[in-house]
Amino acid sequence: MLLPRIGRVARPWLDPALDLEARVELLLAEMTLDEKVGQTHQVANIDPGQNAEALREGRIGSSLYASGATAGNERDEGVLSSVIDEIQGIADGSRLGIPVLFGRDVIHGHRTVTPIPLGLAASFDPDLVREACTVAAREAVVDGIAWTFAPMVDISEEPRWGRVAESFGEQPVLSGRLAAAAVTGFQGDRPADADRLGACAKHFVGYGLSAGGRDYDTVSVGENTLRNLHLRPFRDAVEAGVLSVMAAFNDVDGTPMHSHRRLLRDVLKGEWGFDGVVVADWNGIGQIVHEGVAADLRDAARLAIEAGVDLDMVSGAYLAHLSDLVRDGVVDEALVDDAVRRVLRMKLRLGLFDPPAERRHDNAPTAGTRDVARRAARAAHVLVRNEGALPLGAEGSVLLTGAFVHEGEALLGTWVLDGRGDEVVSPAAALGERLGDRLTVDDGRFSDRTLQRARVADVTVALLGEHPNRSGEANSVSDLRLPPGQLDLVCSLAGLGKPVVAVVYTGRPLDLTEVLELADAVLVVWHPGVEAGSALADVLTGDVEPTGRLPMTFPLSTGHIPTSTHQRPTGRLIRADVDHQEGRYVDALTYPRLPFGYGLSYTSVEYTAPSLARTEIGDNEMTTLSVTVTNTGDRPCRELVQAYFRDPVAQVTRPLVELFDWAAVDLEPGATGEATFEVAPSLFAYTGPDLTERIDSGEIVLLTGPDAATLQPVSLTVTLGATDRAEARP
Ligand code: BGC
Repeated sequence: MLLPRIGRVARPWLDPALDLEARVELLLAEMTLDEKVGQTHQVANIDPGQNAEALREGRIGSSLYASGATAGNERDEGVLSSVIDEIQGIADGSRLGIPVLFGRDVIHGHRTVTPIPLGLAASFDPDLVREACTVAAREAVVDGIAWTFAPMVDISEEPRWGRVAESFGEQPVLSGRLAAAAVTGFQGDRPADADRLGACAKHFVGYGLSAGGRDYDTVSVGENTLRNLHLRPFRDAVEAGVLSVMAAFNDVDGTPMHSHRRLLRDVLKGEWGFDGVVVADWNGIGQIVHEGVAADLRDAARLAIEAGVDLDMVSGAYLAHLSDLVRDGVVDEALVDDAVRRVLRMKLRLGLFDPPAERRHDNAPTAGTRDVARRAARAAHVLVRNEGALPLGAEGSVLLTGAFVHEGEALLGTWVLDGRGDEVVSPAAALGERLGDRLTVDDGRFSDRTLQRARVADVTVALLGEHPNRSGEANSVSDLRLPPGQLDLVCSLAGLGKPVVAVVYTGRPLDLTEVLELADAVLVVWHPGVEAGSALADVLTGDVEPTGRLPMTFPLSTGHIPTSTHQRPTGRLIRADVDHQEGRYVDALTYPRLPFGYGLSYTSVEYTAPSLARTEIGDNEMTTLSVTVTNTGDRPCRELVQAYFRDPVAQVTRPLVELFDWAAVDLEPGATGEATFEVAPSLFAYTGPDLTERIDSGEIVLLTGPDAATLQPVSLTVTLGATDRAEARP
């Protein structure tokens, strides 16, 4: 093959016939120290004019397009593929011609916006998440983007924290499976394909535990909780082949994650063998100085490179100081080489060195992509109460009111950088199409006129909840009740004695205690995306059955946090009756308002007790857990049968229940179906007190049911050879 020769430097690494690692080494061997450092430097919003010289000198390896430090809250000008092409042209003219890696937060759709990740998680459907991310990737590459900072896989059990909206919820198996689905949806089998993006599992690790739910706050967490909970979805993302991992803003027990050598270098890159890029979060390296662990930016650069942060997002610490740190003998050049290898590997894996593919020039939503968004939005709808108000009847008048009645863009949710408000199908439009002149649309202002209209309507649908600028990054709240005024509306409507349906738009679990008491039906729809209205009309009219389930526990009140499925047994038994709640609250009960996994359909379903094909299994053996479900109502449904386990005696305290699998069973009225789950000893692996992963012999209680609080048990005996054994995962 004739290899291009530019200036004095031949570019043998462009030969696609060579092995990837060989290409990386060929390129690395050509690089000066300053060029290497350039590859570890990411700037925001690179500009072909202003940054031309730095590009020509090979001093910029990557750029992200973002409005600023909290980009998910603000609109920006978008990305122009022609500008990206111009920048790549300048980079190609540098001595080594290394292309620039362009990233952007494509979090839940690019132009075709699907529900916020927490809403997607309510589908419990990895195939749907994969499909949604495939659409997002196809649309984003058209704008020249090669890399997205998603999925966010922080285990989220703290509803005050605004960023739960970006997560897949509280359970590690659900988060892990959806994370893997998102990674394969973005990256496909070959991330270099023209319609794929590189993915990024973030934020490594423990960010979901920010003290008090306050964003960016400190995190105190033990190794047991980290390993048995928070690290797990990251590991699933790594096993799914994610090309990059982002360090978290928080510290973990005093060590900032951007300088956490043990977790980044020893666990992620060491134990797990992750060979991709660890990218800093926005100015995360600079923040080590604010955290009081580095004296200045130079010191922060040293700590971060030693810890294993490969790419510096916008702080400039590496560009300013890494070369000198090496020349002064403070930092070993081998550490810089390791970081550069990873960046180059990622660029090669993404096909950036290949001739650019022809891009489609229109990425506006199409009928096909809207279909995906609509299915995803429907799947996110979680019916949490229904006293016969839904589905809406074939006759009768309907009033549509509430704070969200005239919102469009707000229904897209947080972290929407490229979706457009005018492309949202509004609830008023979609319901108007179905209900015609049966529908009255109010101005949503809650006045005496609203109540007058509600008095004469047969049913009122109130669109309530929180605006996306109240969720997402830097948007924590101290009070989980509905924003001011909205509960007054629900109270007044309920006082009229006519059926009230509350539709709740939200980026987090809210305190819905009063709404659940006052409204006849309550539908939690998160921020559903571009097909918000059509999906709502589908579900309200009963054209589609509600199937979503809560991916996070909803607390009784703000004061009850934390409350989640992660609860572990205490020395005092936790019992469901009021008299036996020692050490609990004296002024309130302690159950969740709505448990994890909860969600109704328009019918009723009965469960049998679960049974096991074999009640005892040993090494390399499996059994099947089965449960029968019967639709006892008069409408079809898709029942999400959930399977949990409890390990009653382990070497550390283990959760009272832990989700390990689920199955969707379609049931016509009167029909009976079966859900089966394969059960092997490896399911019960956990990290013990000596920090090795182990599986114990002994009893395991398997539980099935419609949610984490309504479960029936069956006992399994696990017998592993003669003694318990520690099991290192492959
Ligand atoms: C967020 C990240 C995001 C990055 C780039 C940060 O503020 O924490 O999640 O990917 O900005 O926009």
